[in-house]
Amino acid sequence: MTAHVRLRPITEADLDLIELLYEDPDEAGTYGFYGYQNPGALRRGFAEGGLISPRGGRLAVVAGDDGGLVGEVSWHQQQTGPDSVCWNIGIGLLVRARGRGYGTQAQRLLAGYLFAHTQLNRISAETEDGNLAEQRSLEKAGFTREGVLRGSCFRDGKWRDMVSYSMIRADLTPG
Ligand SMILES: CC(C)(COP(=O)(O)OP(=O)(O)OC[C@H]1O[C@@H](n2cnc3c(N)ncnc32)[C@H](O)[C@@H]1OP(=O)(O)O)[C@@H](O)C(=O)NCCC(=O)NCCS
Repeated sequence: MTAHVRLRPITEADLDLIELLYEDPDEAGTYGFYGYQNPGALRRGFAEGGLISPRGGRLAVVAGDDGGLVGEVSWHQQQTGPDSVCWNIGIGLLVRARGRGYGTQAQRLLAGYLFAHTQLNRISAETEDGNLAEQRSLEKAGFTREGVLRGSCFRDGKWRDMVSYSMIRADLTPG
């Protein structure tokens, strides 16, 4: 069955659930919990600017006929040259919403959104070498695997290898 997913701005009513994706070790899961980094940051960010700015943002992922919240996607600028930046994206879905194709659709929608509404040329994503669900999900969403960034991310007591993915505007050009 095709997943029916939409992206929309995060509302105040979403904040409790989205906070769990980072603050609750069970909900964040093996690859999503980095310790208690910045309690209250989500609410402060929401109060200051609705979690969207020219340098990055976050959108709610909603699914199904009732449009229930299933997670969030995010993007921020990453310097790639003296006068060049690209977007780097992230995603977190609630445990109950995983494995249904929502992650694939949400990341495909986010790439389309960023290419449509910003001028940057490249969208990158990194995920741990053990996170096979995210690797598969990015590939199904149209991202290209570029290589392994050895020992680049510290999580739960160890430096981890990250797999790097990207999509550039030319990837969307037909033919
Ligand atoms: C990673 C995540 C975004 C993927 O979204 P999702 O909706 O669960 O994934 P999808 O259903 O779109 O696709 C997952 C694919 O990976 C496959 N997969 C899942 N677990 C797997 C595993 N352990 N080994 C191999 N493949 C796996 C699925 O079979 C599916 O592929 P298929 O459609 O060809 O069968 C989601 O699971 C999540 O939020 N996880 C926790 C947070 C996280 O890891 N975020 C990313 C941090 S970089």
